[in-house]
Amino acid sequence: MSAKPLKVALLGAGVVGSEVARLLAEQAPDLAARVGAPLELVGVGVRRTGVNRGSWIDPALTTDDLQGLVTERGADIVVEVLGGIDPARHLILSAFEAGASVVTANKALLAQHGAELHQACDAAGVDLYFEASVAGAIPLLRPLRESLVGDRVQRVLGIVNGTTNYILTRMDESGASFSDALAEAQELGYAEKPDPSADVEGHDAAAKAAIIASLAFHSRVTLADVYCEGIASITAADVAAAKASGHVIKLLAVAERSFDGRGINVRVHPAMLSRQHPLAAVREAYNAVFVESDAAGQLMFYGPGAGGAPTASAVVGDIVAVARNRISGGHGPRESAYAALPVLPLDESSTRYFIALDLTDKAGVLASVAAVFAEHDVSIETLRQEGHGDDARLEIVTHEAQEKSLAKTCKSLRDLDSVRRIASTMRVVGE
Ligand code: HSE
Repeated sequence: MSAKPLKVALLGAGVVGSEVARLLAEQAPDLAARVGAPLELVGVGVRRTGVNRGSWIDPALTTDDLQGLVTERGADIVVEVLGGIDPARHLILSAFEAGASVVTANKALLAQHGAELHQACDAAGVDLYFEASVAGAIPLLRPLRESLVGDRVQRVLGIVNGTTNYILTRMDESGASFSDALAEAQELGYAEKPDPSADVEGHDAAAKAAIIASLAFHSRVTLADVYCEGIASITAADVAAAKASGHVIKLLAVAERSFDGRGINVRVHPAMLSRQHPLAAVREAYNAVFVESDAAGQLMFYGPGAGGAPTASAVVGDIVAVARNRISGGHGPRESAYAALPVLPLDESSTRYFIALDLTDKAGVLASVAAVFAEHDVSIETLRQEGHGDDARLEIVTHEAQEKSLAKTCKSLRDLDSVRRIASTMRVVGE
């Protein structure tokens, strides 16, 4: 074993940072053996010193001079678990300038400034690893970056937000309303208080979708490219309708090649998923990502997507990987964006659709509804009617059709005298 320790600077001592410090201390002999040199924690950057941060953070190592920690202590590896854009961004850029490799869990930063970070990393000839930025403990980014790099990924479907998956699971299993399920998630600490919008409006999942799409399709995808719709408008009636037709509603991150190969579609939205689909079995706050590729076929990655110890597991895995690279004098995979596939507008993506219509059941109504679908070239897959007279409901599932055709279909349906209202529309994903 090399006698010279590798110096690790840790930025952040919150839920994840303190668990990273714990794993580095508790597993020090094993990590040293796996790396080929000891890992030495040389400082922990915090907003305020003098605060008790638990037994794994030595107060003598804490500093509020984060810039100094990155540039003045000879760090080989800078670990950023602060979150947010700044100061994380400029600290990481400084780390590269100082010749350190970086491990980060910062999805927002990667989804908005990934290209800048990768370029700075390349210029410095060091590493940027970010496994923990998507789906916590689940090994997903390394499989996409390395294991599947010889394959051609067609589609990735992910449940990548535990908070919304918990809320939707409660709505599905107990019939709870969105607000009751959200309150329960807040009580359990899954959803933020008082403002849960980053999770429930889909922004957290959208940042992860951008990172996944960039890796899966060797293209630069940023947060701004991702269409995003959250779950706040999902009603108990939507959930019951999904259940009645053999589906479950999940918030999905979808990244897929367009049917004509011109580009990719990247979006986050609630979707009805067949209960037979492997992702339908992912309950509560768990995450899972389903990958479809030409040679490997269908793969699913499942596990805890958040939490201190699970996220720290991914961070420390990355620390070991970049430490090994430093010992060997090599480096890990660079950004791969050569394919440069454009992200197509939502209008040009295709999906199946579920549409529930409240209408008056009389002769000719079905024909007029079917004619609207035909007029916009949307083919009906299944149709189910409940009730009769003035109080009928028609539930229609379409074959795959373009979003813009579905939007025109809904507009025309609203214009029919016999249709009182469109009670629900939902995308249907998976076979
Ligand atoms: N808030 C996220 C979730 C975890 O609910 O899954 C961190 O991305």
